[in-house]
Formats: sequence, C-alpha cells, structure tokens
Amino acid sequence: MLAFDRRIGLIGIGKMGEALVSGLIRSKLIDPAKVGVSDISVERKEYISKKYPITCYSKSDELVNNSDIVVIAVKPRDMKKVLGDIKAQLNSKHLLISIAAGISTSFILRHLQKNVSLIRAMPNSPCMIGEGMTVLAPLPGTSIENIQYAKEIFSSIGKVLLLDEKHLNAVTGLSGSGPAYVYLFIEALTAGGVKVGLPEDVALILSTQTLYGSSKMLLETGEPPKKLKGMVATPGGTTVSGLFELEIGNVRASIIRAVEKATQRARELGIE
Ligand SMILES: NC(=O)c1ccc[n+]([C@@H]2O[C@H](COP(=O)([O-])OP(=O)(O)OC[C@H]3O[C@@H](n4cnc5c(N)ncnc54)[C@H](OP(=O)(O)O)[C@@H]3O)[C@@H](O)[C@H]2O)c1
Repeated sequence: MLAFDRRIGLIGIGKMGEALVSGLIRSKLIDPAKVGVSDISVERKEYISKKYPITCYSKSDELVNNSDIVVIAVKPRDMKKVLGDIKAQLNSKHLLISIAAGISTSFILRHLQKNVSLIRAMPNSPCMIGEGMTVLAPLPGTSIENIQYAKEIFSSIGKVLLLDEKHLNAVTGLSGSGPAYVYLFIEALTAGGVKVGLPEDVALILSTQTLYGSSKMLLETGEPPKKLKGMVATPGGTTVSGLFELEIGNVRASIIRAVEKATQRARELGIE
C-alpha cells in the first residue's frame, strides 16, 4: 500500500460524499487533517463539520487549491457549474475523480478546456456501509500512481474493479441499479414467507440473512453459482420444486432484461 501522502478534497458532501469521508476515516487510510470538503448547502457543511474532524471550505476553488486529489460527488445536473467553478484552479498536478452517473470524461474535459488526470468512478449505494462495489474508468494515459491512489480511496468503502469507460453504462445497469433488484428479491422472498405462514419480521430476517450468506459463500469459496445451487438442490427435493417455479415464471430472463433495460436507460441519460 502507498503511504497516503495526498490531500483529498470532496466537492458535494451528500450521501455518497459522506460515505467516502466516513470510509476514509474509518479505514485510517488518511489523516483526517488531509481531508477537505465543500458543499453549497450550509446545513450540510454544519452537519459534516460537527461529525468529522475535517476541513470545510466555503468555496470549491479554495478546496481545489488545498487538495491534490479532487473528488466531485454532486448530482449530474450540477456538474457543469462545479467544473466552471474549479477549472481555473485545476492543474496538471491534480487528480480529478468524478462519481457523477452518466457524465463522460469527454464532457468533463470539454468543460474544463484543459487536460487533467481524470478518473470516472461508478460506486453503488452499499458504499454507505463500507460494502460497495466501485468500478473505476481512468482516462487513457492516467499514471499508475494516480490509479493506485483512486483504488485505495474507493477500497475504503468496498471492492474496486478497473474497466474501460465504454463499460460504465453496463456497470450502472448491473452494480449501480443492482441493490434495488436485490431489495425487490428480498421483498418477494419475505412475502413468500408470509404466504406460507411466517410472521413478517421473521420472514424478513430469514430472507436477508439468506441473501447475505449466499453472497458471502460465493465470495469466500470462489465457486460458480451453478455449483453452489447444485449443492442445495437435491434431485427430487424441495429446492428443485422451488427453482422450477422460478424458471416457469421467467425470473432469470426478467433479471437479464432488467440489466439490459437499465443499461439502455443509462446510455439515454448519459451526457457525452
Ligand atoms: N446514490 C447512489 O447510489 C450513487 C451511486 C453511484 C453514483 N452516484 C453519483 O454520486 C453523485 C452524488 O450523489 P448523492 O446521492 O450523494 O447526491 P446528494 O446526496 O444530492 O449530494 C450532492 C451534494 O452536492 C451538493 N451540491 C450541489 N451543487 C453543488 C455545487 N455547485 N458545489 C458544491 N456542492 C454542491 C448538494 O447540495 P444541495 O442538496 O443543496 O443541492 C448535495 O449536498 C451523483 O452524481 C450520483 O450520480 C450516486
């Protein structure tokens, strides 16, 4: 691991911005004195400065002047304004990271009108509890050192993978939207439990722990899902009867289509 000697500045300290700050502090990756934030919301800044021992800047350009790595975590609609606010202060020594969904690196470069070291990141909401999945798409030519810094930052809130930017719409459709698909599955599983007579709170715990345990089995054993499924489904047993109903209900095809449609929508909403 690199000795994390860079100063990090976050613009936009909403849900994802706070997830990053708390991950960075919890993981002890960085001295909190090296973390700065800026946000247009006064209440948000007050809340954050009371909760974390970090520096709150009133203006984003001031933050950029006092940071080596700048992470933009505002809504996509606010990106143009933020880029305009900071473009004069950004220079070739900065590493800029954007987590704004659908905002391409070409959009960012066009609005900055200068070349900077730039990485697009697509985290997902479990980042808020340190179990996120982030895909990083560095602009070609980004130094290995800067990619390593970005990996370390996002590793503080979960797992990290590196992919080409062309895959980010698909990533949005899968791991970005994925938590919502999983919650829907848990809701349905819980409703199934209630249908067969379990109290709702009990059914919810059984469903949630089953999802959690099964995911952990996949991660820890490294076995393919098909093999682990086979271990549960004894021929002629209860599980195959359940699996057969899921196949009749076209659940597998529906999930494939959900990822496909969400990817298409990400493409439609994307800003080049
Ligand atoms: N939530 C997710 O699961 C998820 C997953 C992947 C990527 N993302 C991306 O992460 C980004 C942040 O999402 P979020 O859910 O954390 O949003 P959020 O909770 O709305 O936080 C954004 C913060 O930025 C502030 N802001 C707006 N304009 C600003 C400006 N010009 N300068 C400084 N601060 C400004 C907002 O203040 P106001 O509220 O006053 O406008 C708000 O406090 C989005 O681009 C989103 O696409 C989110």
